[in-house]
Amino acid sequence: MTKQLNAVVNARLQDQKGLYRLEISNGRFSAIATQSETTTAKEGELDAGGNLVTPAFVEPHIHLDAAMTAGEPRWNKSGTLFEGIECWSERKTTLSHDDVINRATQTLKLFAAHGIQYVRTHVDVTDPKLTALKAMLEVREQTAGFVDLQIVAFPQEGIWSFRNGRELMEEAIRLGADVVGGIPHFEFTRDYGAESVRWLMELAHKNDRLVDVHCDEIDDPESRFLEVLAAEALRLDYGSRVSASHTCAMGSYNDAYCSRLFRLLKKSGLRFLSMPTESLHLQGRFDSYPKRRGITRVPELLDAGLKVAFGQDSIRDPWYPMGNGNMLRTLDVGLHACHMLGMSQIERSLELITDNAAAALDLKEYGIAEGLLARCIVQQGRTPYEVLLGQQPVIASVRDGELLVHREPAKVQGGLLLQ
Ligand code: FE2
Repeated sequence: MTKQLNAVVNARLQDQKGLYRLEISNGRFSAIATQSETTTAKEGELDAGGNLVTPAFVEPHIHLDAAMTAGEPRWNKSGTLFEGIECWSERKTTLSHDDVINRATQTLKLFAAHGIQYVRTHVDVTDPKLTALKAMLEVREQTAGFVDLQIVAFPQEGIWSFRNGRELMEEAIRLGADVVGGIPHFEFTRDYGAESVRWLMELAHKNDRLVDVHCDEIDDPESRFLEVLAAEALRLDYGSRVSASHTCAMGSYNDAYCSRLFRLLKKSGLRFLSMPTESLHLQGRFDSYPKRRGITRVPELLDAGLKVAFGQDSIRDPWYPMGNGNMLRTLDVGLHACHMLGMSQIERSLELITDNAAAALDLKEYGIAEGLLARCIVQQGRTPYEVLLGQQPVIASVRDGELLVHREPAKVQGGLLLQ
């Protein structure tokens, strides 16, 4: 198989009947045509084998600077977000440029093997030397052949609550971070939290940057920085460029408050990112029984017409010791935790790790259509349901017409995977 393709054949497309041939020229889809029957792939053609072909996966929320550091210098014994931050602040003192580059690149290669071609990473900028940020800017250049990487200037220990927090954020943006981050629920006071949100929104607006705030990542129903973020996004008419990550507290809000809040959220058009594996692990830690799931109101947000995507958040770091780069695992957990296993929800579920995440990243060119960059993955299964049942790694990942990943499919009989 040559690496540069001129077509993907025997492709099944979501919401379409039959098989398709996707022509590629100059790295773009040049024609998409139905096939009357299964065809034999010729030289330069990739045989999708009747499996589902979708746009590449998008990982909208990960921390690559902390990836693969679980247990260093110690394990997070309590399993709380706050002990995770303590462990990380100890590990952070030993960070080096090469250390960050090696772990981030290793993780991005793992993601690429699972069909992820777009990644948004938060990078901790509460470090006077900005070691991780400077390394990640290099990683963004070095890995551009297989991933589009967005970098968030993320103030892990606060903007108002960390010495020179504002200056470090401004410097990170000046150096080239794509996205302005925040962590209002972790600031020392409620006032600091609200002020930090107003300030970071102005910073993003002034510098024409996207926004992605760790917002209300706590089970406290009094943590209500989402309303501040949404109101600022509305005021600046910036909602489609602003992501609210986590919003775990919404799982603890009362319904009367949510009813008022949703009016604002719909007007603002914010994007929502939920990290179900991480939140199930970190939240509910201060509850006895019943224990809360600590996950935002995903189906309700979707029903309100808002874009919600799932992310992994961590790969073997101080907050979460697990993770393998397979977005289908994250999706499966999220659908379970959010009571979203109705068949109509399953059929639409891949949007949570493709289109909706692409909207959060404000990607200008994403999807399978004539004229767009020829980026797609061949999943294992003919329908989203079969793909989710198997949770197998992608058969292929194509980027600008080049075959990045190709592996033998699992054996299937009658639509069922044989183990
Ligand atoms: Fe995060």
